[in-house]
Amino acid sequence: MADVFDLTIIGSGPGGYVAAIRASQLGLKVAVVEKWPTFGGTCLNIGCIPSKALLHASEMFEEAGHQFKQLGIDIPTPVLNLPQMMNHKTDTVAANVGGVDYLFKKNKITSFRGIGTIAAPGKVRVTPQSGPTVEIETKNIVIATGSVSANLPGIEIDEKTIVTSTGALSLDKVPNKLVVIGAGVIGLELGSVWARLGAQVTVVEYLDRILPGMDSEVARQFQRMLQKQGIEFKLASKVAGIDKQENGALKVRVEAAQGGAGEVLDADVALVAIGRKPFTEGLGLDIVGVALDERGRVRVDGQYKTSVDGVYAIGDVIAGPMLAHKAEDEGIAVAEILGGQAGHVNYAAIPAVVYTNPEIASVGKTEDELKAEGIEYKIGKFPFTANGRAKAMLATQGFVKILADVNTDRVLGAHIVGKNAGEMIHELVVLMEFSGAAEDLARSTHAHPTLSEAVREAALSLGDGAIHI
Ligand code: FAD
Ligand code: NAI
Repeated sequence: MADVFDLTIIGSGPGGYVAAIRASQLGLKVAVVEKWPTFGGTCLNIGCIPSKALLHASEMFEEAGHQFKQLGIDIPTPVLNLPQMMNHKTDTVAANVGGVDYLFKKNKITSFRGIGTIAAPGKVRVTPQSGPTVEIETKNIVIATGSVSANLPGIEIDEKTIVTSTGALSLDKVPNKLVVIGAGVIGLELGSVWARLGAQVTVVEYLDRILPGMDSEVARQFQRMLQKQGIEFKLASKVAGIDKQENGALKVRVEAAQGGAGEVLDADVALVAIGRKPFTEGLGLDIVGVALDERGRVRVDGQYKTSVDGVYAIGDVIAGPMLAHKAEDEGIAVAEILGGQAGHVNYAAIPAVVYTNPEIASVGKTEDELKAEGIEYKIGKFPFTANGRAKAMLATQGFVKILADVNTDRVLGAHIVGKNAGEMIHELVVLMEFSGAAEDLARSTHAHPTLSEAVREAALSLGDGAIHI
């Protein structure tokens, strides 16, 4: 008789693979179905990991060209070896997806290659690229099929000159002119990569600001920093169409968002980065009756249960920020729930990081949200220009902003623009997890000289005052 699994997970991204490992640690018999040749999903194969490899390499390239001299390191003008930079990216991806392979073996997780379809509750059909289909018997199913890039109507992606993030991570030469459509996280991260490597980058954004959802003061200041790096912005604008010329060059037709005068931008490459949409194709959800919401996301309750008993969903395919660590934590939570424990994610303390230079990191409420919700707050701020370590590192751009309840001093949100902001944010995540007050942070000794002292100084400024300003 065929094995009966306690849990079958469809999709091996950060949501799926982490759920599999945690469930196995809790003694469940686990299967994972993945249609791609490697595990790790969007994040490890075509998302977080390759983008960070290129962000790091391109930042080093730029620093070698611009900062080394000031640090007393004389080198010839650095020369870009793009194929080697891409090799670095490919090796990084391979090491990470191989790591998931290893963890699956270590945790005795059974994997199936092919497209997973929910044939019925308790039954998953796997259709491999070649060979016969396989039917898996399982007590529970977790949908962790992630998301794909959203398209612009009338614009055909070829992943060569009109690309999504996937193509933008694999260009074989630096475009002279890159038009980025969408000033969100992907647009600014990948726009930064190619700008550092020599492309002239113009970002076209529908709204009148960049990074919607982030604190607007942070977004405004960060836009100025990117402009100083040579990135141009066309805000409150939309792309009406892209015309391909015979020589392969692109003419990008841009119009005011609300209609009106337009212009045509020349480009070698256009990156469409206007958001991502949940991916549920081929899962057979309509047949088994798993309900979707108005945006095509799988509807779940507080325990990640869909409208069908025994079928759960996590990660980008359900509501909430499309972030790898959110998917991972939901993976842990659903595994714990199925393992008889009290799985839980604190959505109020999920950090978000934009890995540009400087980085942007945030957790909790933005000032805009506090205003809209009528919550009385106070602001503690500290600039990196007043931080000793930042001066030594030539990294004085940016600031720390902490928002705390005016009556209780409880930290409600924090926003950092600066070098290594993505690492520094975590002390605020932990503080918020413990419902901490700004004074708790202000009274915690921070090692000197560190960039993190700026975080403490921002907290101090909410009380009797920062020391170094
Ligand atoms: P996914 O990672 O999308 O995985 C879904 C998996 O399911 C895929 O492997 C897919 O092949 C498989 N699948 C789908 N349908 C089926 C089926 N029917 N049968 C079998 N298999 C199936 N987030 C961050 O937090 N930090 C970052 O730095 C970051 N950078 C990013 C950069 C880019 C360029 C992109 C595109 C995204 C980035 N993200 C980042 C977002 C992050 O990748 C996602 O939030 C995360 O991957 C979601 O995880 P998931 O497990 O829900 O789905
Ligand atoms: P996004 O939602 O971050 O940004 C999309 C941007 O495009 C928005 O500013 C939006 O206003 C704009 N836009 C939408 N339609 C437009 C149009 N027709 N014309 C011009 N602009 C338009 O989406 P993005 O950047 O594609 O990223 C997708 C997801 O991937 C995000 O939700 C993000 O969470 C995740 N991601 C996370 C990263 C990180 O954590 N560092 C890195 C990359 C992606």
